Amino acid sequence: MKSNIALIGFMGSGKTTIGRILAKSLDMKFIDIDRCISIREKKTIPEIFEEHGEKYFRDLERAIIEEESKDNNIVISTGGGAIIDNVNIKNLKATSFVVFLDCDINTIFERVKKSKTRPLLNNSEDVLKTIKELHEKRQTLYKISSDFSIKIDLNTNIYDSVEKIKNAYILS
Ligand code: S3P
Repeated sequence: MKSNIALIGFMGSGKTTIGRILAKSLDMKFIDIDRCISIREKKTIPEIFEEHGEKYFRDLERAIIEEESKDNNIVISTGGGAIIDNVNIKNLKATSFVVFLDCDINTIFERVKKSKTRPLLNNSEDVLKTIKELHEKRQTLYKISSDFSIKIDLNTNIYDSVEKIKNAYILS
């Protein structure tokens, strides 16, 4: 059994919410990579994107995933784009059981359409179209990067998802 659990998946798939509950129920520490980046920079994620651009954000994301992956007994919630970078996948897989929260597009749209904290969507004139394009590019990466996946839609009970992940991790 790997010492950590990493949650991957699109924006709005529930990584942070599920991660917190999962960590609590397994008596593990919860780490949110976006939050670590924000704390380190003393800025919000939109501010980082606006002031320094996406590459700067991705460099920080890579460095923090590498650092945090070395820790033990943690549940790591990653940003939706973390899997774009091979190095992140390699670092996560080295110490974590990687779980893909496979959320359908409509559910993602419902959850993120009013969000002001997601720079990749905030500037888009057609949020649904942007979600579809990013989803198309990323879906295969999420699948091949994960050890286990669960389907999520608007009717999914969070506690059921947590139980499924917990059982898969314990059996891994
Ligand atoms: C991003 C997802 C965000 C955050 C950043 C970029 C992405 O995290 O890391 O805005 O590329 O999908 P969430 O998945 O937690 O929204």
